[in-house]
Amino acid sequence: MNAIEIISRKQAGTELSADEIREIVFGYTRGEVPDYQMSAFLMAVYFQGMTQRETGDLVRTMTASGRRADLSNIPGRKVDKHSTGGVGDKVSLVVAPLVASLGVPIPMISGRGLGHTGGTLDKLESIPGFTTTLSVAQFIRQVADLGCALIGQTDEIVPADRKMYALRDVTSTVRSLPLIAGSILSKKLAEGAQALMLDVKFGRGAIFDNVAEARSLAKYLVDIGSETGLEITALLTDMDQPLGYAVGNWLEVRECLDLMRGTAAAPDLKELCLVQAAIMLTLGERAENYTEGRALAESALHSGSAFLKFVEIAHRQQAEVRFLENPDLYPTANANRVLEAKRNGYVSDLNALSIGQAAVSLGAGRMRKEDPVDYTAGIILHRKRGDYAEKGQPLATLFGATVDRIASVAAAVEAAFTIEDTPPASRPLILSRLTINGEENWE
Ligand code: URA
Repeated sequence: MNAIEIISRKQAGTELSADEIREIVFGYTRGEVPDYQMSAFLMAVYFQGMTQRETGDLVRTMTASGRRADLSNIPGRKVDKHSTGGVGDKVSLVVAPLVASLGVPIPMISGRGLGHTGGTLDKLESIPGFTTTLSVAQFIRQVADLGCALIGQTDEIVPADRKMYALRDVTSTVRSLPLIAGSILSKKLAEGAQALMLDVKFGRGAIFDNVAEARSLAKYLVDIGSETGLEITALLTDMDQPLGYAVGNWLEVRECLDLMRGTAAAPDLKELCLVQAAIMLTLGERAENYTEGRALAESALHSGSAFLKFVEIAHRQQAEVRFLENPDLYPTANANRVLEAKRNGYVSDLNALSIGQAAVSLGAGRMRKEDPVDYTAGIILHRKRGDYAEKGQPLATLFGATVDRIASVAAAVEAAFTIEDTPPASRPLILSRLTINGEENWE
């Protein structure tokens, strides 16, 4: 069997066998199948899709491309959280330490930015010294000692996703149900999670902008997850405007520090963190129900224990924690520019896709696999949907390496804001919750 044959069979819409999927995924992981053939395979899957059986095999194969963390000696139900990706979505940085501080073990393997969406790994690595490449043994020991470890895919754990994820990012093959399922679920199975809080985003800043497609993705992930042994609660959440006020790696870490220390809080970010933490506490059998989980999460956030846990994790992963304790020590971007409202009115629309793309262009994400990330680059929003601005008041501040770089995106950021005389109708942040038993509306 060779890669060309497998690519052309998938291109023709043929259902691949488990052996064929293994052949191409393992071949690519070992370096025997080159990037250009894997790109063609990913594009064939993108257009032809995969049956549920093929996707299950893809998940199992990607998981088996490396080692699986055995957490069976650690007491408690292991729970993780993952988002399908958004702009300004920094929830993992808060809920992982928050839930771990309440005694639920959180083994977390995250990814880097994909397209216009940010990634937890890039955000963590913006903290000087923070290493996300622990060995499996170190990962297990840290979950046992601290209740949480935050790592990325390595050569030892889900190496297939490590390579495929980076390739999908730059070949426009992210928007594919089976490839998303393979990527997310292989990481969760390899890290030893038993239950998962999955945040499936919809709206212009998400992978899928319309709710129907996002709902299909959520159902697909819940079904395949349960088939592969993972209990999943999924939320369908709005990503039509960025989450919180900060977009860009260090800017987002800083926003999370403010939330965990109680110095400032964007209402949408805080709400989504508390909801997801409450669900994780229920999945982890630490709370009897959502209401109890929510009360626990609120008290851990307000008491500062989430912040202390985050510092503890960061210290163990070699970060220079002085930047967490005193974020003003962190260098700021070389250049910045404030965009002001050109008229009085309400922000009736704020396009998350335009903001995400502008942040990538400022240096916060990658256009090519090898591109370095500028951790200080990004955008702080001063007004969001529904907020009122008077002419001359700030809408956003852009941060980048050069004045020219900022100038190249300023018009697009300005155009991301629509200002009107009347306030827009409100949009719910959370639409519904899905489990293997079906979907229910969120009040
Ligand atoms: N998150 C992942 O880990 N993988 C995807 O493909 C999308 C979101």
